[in-house]
Amino acid sequence: MVSEYNMKKIAAEHATKYVQAGMKIGLGTGSTAYYAILKIGEMVRDGLSIQAVATSEASEKLAVEQGIPLIPLREVDRLDLTIDGADELDDQLRLIKGGGGALLREKITAFHSERLVIVADDTKTVTQLGAFPLPVEIVPFAYEWTIQSLTQLGCTVQIRHKPDKGFYVTDNGNYIADCKFQQIPQPEELSSRIGSLPGVVEHGLFIGMADQAIIGCQDGTVRIL
Ligand code: 5RP
Repeated sequence: MVSEYNMKKIAAEHATKYVQAGMKIGLGTGSTAYYAILKIGEMVRDGLSIQAVATSEASEKLAVEQGIPLIPLREVDRLDLTIDGADELDDQLRLIKGGGGALLREKITAFHSERLVIVADDTKTVTQLGAFPLPVEIVPFAYEWTIQSLTQLGCTVQIRHKPDKGFYVTDNGNYIADCKFQQIPQPEELSSRIGSLPGVVEHGLFIGMADQAIIGCQDGTVRIL
C-alpha cells in the first residue's frame, strides 16, 4: 500500500512519459502537478528541449527553480500537452478543478492544448461529481450578489478564506466561492447555468476537456481512464 502522496507521484511521473523534445507543455497546479513539474525539470536538466507555460504563479515559480524554460503566452499558438491535477473526476472524464484556486488559468491553458492529461490519486475518482465543493471564481465587485445567485442554483456557498484571515485572492485578483452541491447529476447543465451568471469569471467544471486520466493506485500501479 502506497501513501496518497506516492499515488500522486506515480501518476504524475507516468504522465511525463508523454513529454517529447520540442513540445510546448502546459504545467498544471497543485500537489500532483507538482511531481510532474519536478520530473520535467529533471528531464530538462538531462538535456530535453521543451518550452512551457504555467497555470499559476506557484507553478511558474517552481518551473523557474527547476530550470524549465517558460514562454510568454503571446509567443504560443497551441500547446502540445498539458498535465494537470483534479479534485474529482468521473468515468466520462468530467472534472471538478480549482481546489488550489488556479481554475481560470488552468481552463484557459487546457482549452488551448492539443491534449489534456489529468493526473490524480485514486481517492479523486467518483461515480458522480459534487461531493467536492465546486470552486467558482467571482469578481470582488458585488460578490454578495453573485453568491446569492449561486445559492439559488441549490448549493451552499462558502467564500474561500486564507488560512490566517481575509479572503483568498486568486492570481487574477478575484475571489473563490466554494459551492457545495453534494451531487451534480447533470454537470453540463450546471456548467452553462453557472457560466451565464454575471459576476462569475469561471467555474471548476471541466467537461469535454480531458483526453486521458492517469490514476495512481494504492498498490503502486496506475490506471488509465
Ligand atoms: C488547482 C487544481 C488542482 O489541480 C486540484 O486542486 C488538485 O490538486 P491536488 O493535486 O493538490 O490534489 O485544480 O486549481
